[in-house]
Amino acid sequence: MLLKFLLLALGVSTAQAIEPFTWNNDTFLLHGKPYQIIGGQMDPQRIPYELWGDRLAKARSMGLNTIFSYVYWDQLVPEQGEWDTSGNNDIARYFKTAQEAGLNIVLRSGPYICGEHEWGGFPAWLSEVPDMEVRTNNPAFLSAAKSYIDKLGDELKDLMVTNGGPILMSQVENEYGSYGANHEYIASLRDMMREAYGIPLYTNDGGEQSMLEGGQIAGALAETDGSPQTGFAARNKYVTDASSLGPQLDGEYYITWLDQWASNNTHQTDVGNAAAIKTATSDLGWILKQNASFSIYMFHGGTNWGFQNGADWGNALEPITTSYDYGAPLDESGRTNEIYHAIRQTISSHVGKKNVPDLVSEKPLIEIPSITLKPSVSLFDALPDPIRKTAPVNMESVGQSYGFILYRHVATASMNGTLKTGDAPRDRVLVYVNGERVGVIDNTYEVPNTVQLSLKKHDVVDLLIENMGRVNYGSQIVDQRKGIVGNVTISGTVVSNWEIYPLPLVSPPSASGNAPKPSANSSPIFYTGSFDVKEVGDTYLELPEWTKGVVWVNGVNLGRYWTVGPQQSLYLPGVYLRESGNSITVLALEPTGDEGSVQGVTTRKWGNNPDPDMKS
Ligand SMILES: *[C@@H]1O[C@H](CO)[C@@H](O)[C@H](O)[C@H]1NC(C)=O
Ligand SMILES: *[C@@H]1O[C@H](CO)[C@@H](O)[C@H](O)[C@H]1NC(C)=O
Ligand SMILES: *[C@@H]1O[C@H](CO)[C@@H](O)[C@H](O)[C@H]1NC(C)=O
Ligand SMILES: *[C@@H]1O[C@H](CO)[C@@H](O)[C@H](O)[C@H]1NC(C)=O
Ligand SMILES: *[C@@H]1O[C@H](CO)[C@@H](O)[C@H](O)[C@H]1NC(C)=O
Repeated sequence: MLLKFLLLALGVSTAQAIEPFTWNNDTFLLHGKPYQIIGGQMDPQRIPYELWGDRLAKARSMGLNTIFSYVYWDQLVPEQGEWDTSGNNDIARYFKTAQEAGLNIVLRSGPYICGEHEWGGFPAWLSEVPDMEVRTNNPAFLSAAKSYIDKLGDELKDLMVTNGGPILMSQVENEYGSYGANHEYIASLRDMMREAYGIPLYTNDGGEQSMLEGGQIAGALAETDGSPQTGFAARNKYVTDASSLGPQLDGEYYITWLDQWASNNTHQTDVGNAAAIKTATSDLGWILKQNASFSIYMFHGGTNWGFQNGADWGNALEPITTSYDYGAPLDESGRTNEIYHAIRQTISSHVGKKNVPDLVSEKPLIEIPSITLKPSVSLFDALPDPIRKTAPVNMESVGQSYGFILYRHVATASMNGTLKTGDAPRDRVLVYVNGERVGVIDNTYEVPNTVQLSLKKHDVVDLLIENMGRVNYGSQIVDQRKGIVGNVTISGTVVSNWEIYPLPLVSPPSASGNAPKPSANSSPIFYTGSFDVKEVGDTYLELPEWTKGVVWVNGVNLGRYWTVGPQQSLYLPGVYLRESGNSITVLALEPTGDEGSVQGVTTRKWGNNPDPDMKS
């Protein structure tokens, strides 16, 4: 007894402190014990905070032990110097809830995250900082990034694994090797995060030589995403710096892919495709047997609430739909599907059934019978005070990040010809003369329509421009200013003297004056209505005759709708409803007079319709 006591005492006094989270060549070590990361991506800011606990419990009961989370800088710092952790931005609370659910966290705080989020997570105000160049070793960018990372480090301090919290490690940048190879830039971010977070760091790149060589940095574990077989082999081959080697992690295993507006694709999902599900489970099973780690991108995608969606750039703007369902195992409404159950089976057979908690119960979705909405106010009758400028200026320069912006000009002489709205349409330009829509110029088309104007003196020209989501990936991210950049010209003649109306539409305007009468080519109209439900629950809102716009329920912006699809209904979670007196507002950007009703359905449909504005 005495000897054992003495040895124990000796052991305690001489043993090196165990790193809370570290790794050797083959495995991660949590408090000294091998830890296989069985992870999935789920970003708090795409989920109503009231539902975090439910989604996290469902992650745990699929067998996950770790949640990978992007953090959206633009939402936390909506204005330079601000820090907003209200509502869905209370990420410390999300990570605490994860810990209570038995989950660890891998932090992916960017500052660039991609994530199909607005500008890859960059706040729009960065555009107005002098000498700013994003994603590079630029003093203006590094200084803005540092204030964000430092603040985040303070916010999450108690939640770091080094302080007994669930956050194990943090990613530096995001797939940087697909974008550049400026190692000084990645080293700057690495040092910034090391100081602010004090936890181990990793990088995550595509499984190709140039990507790994561009993104890898000494002192951060180099990991890959995409195909695990390709990624692991590429990491073994191309990363030679011992300080970046360690256990293999597929940091983003994609089951399917995202949905884009006007893509002429149906919703991307493997539901109903047994062969594709088998491929996914066999890949994940293979990773587990290698003693390697993974994160499923996405475990649960959630919703691009309001105007949070980003866009890709192909040969044209490819804006991401409001739904970020992503064909994930846990669908947009938080329901499990057959992918979930198949993966749960794969994980169970690896970790043992007793280590996977029971399934979480699910309430059925609700139907809401047709709600009738009535025209309440025209957008052009609810304008804020204008900003007057000789030449138009971009949205960010008037302190606006998202939504719409209107540019108005009163013709001082007759003018005819082709309209050009600055250097490029940014993004969808609705053109009106004396309140009648005369054309649409839209950057989501490789060859946007052209609009011919024939103006008389005193004619009023309105250019209503929608920011459809800033590009989140590729070289286009360098300049993501919205609205008008450059001059407006008609057949090459510069049009001067503009009234500029910022329309962030954080909430819809209240009605005043006469109700507008919709007709073909009329200007945008807000419709309003109210409804009760028998029992509060989740639903999908269908908008059958509506062309394009935005929906608010009880003041919450549910996001954009657009008949072109593939998304044809909007997720409305029960947490935003009450039994009686729910209010709904729908902005009809292109009213025809046929719209007016919406309904809640329990099964959503996806599909594409022709864009009525693109008739040739
Ligand atoms: C870990 O890997 C490095 C680099 O491949 C090698 O030099 C080292 O011997 C390995 N360590 C162990 C304990 O296997
Ligand atoms: C959309 O896809 C369908 C089926 O693949 C094709 O027939 C049609 O031409 C496409 N439409 C457009 C506008 O690209
Ligand atoms: C995985 O780990 C187990 C237990 O430590 C070991 O028996 C097995 O050989 C390892 N498999 C591989 C592929 O490294
Ligand atoms: C524009 O067209 C109208 C009608 O075709 C014509 O009356 C007017 O003179 C033209 N104005 C200019 C500046 O060319
Ligand atoms: C816009 O037009 C004004 C007046 O013609 C000219 O001075 C200015 O350089 C133009 N700006 C751009 C970006 O072309």
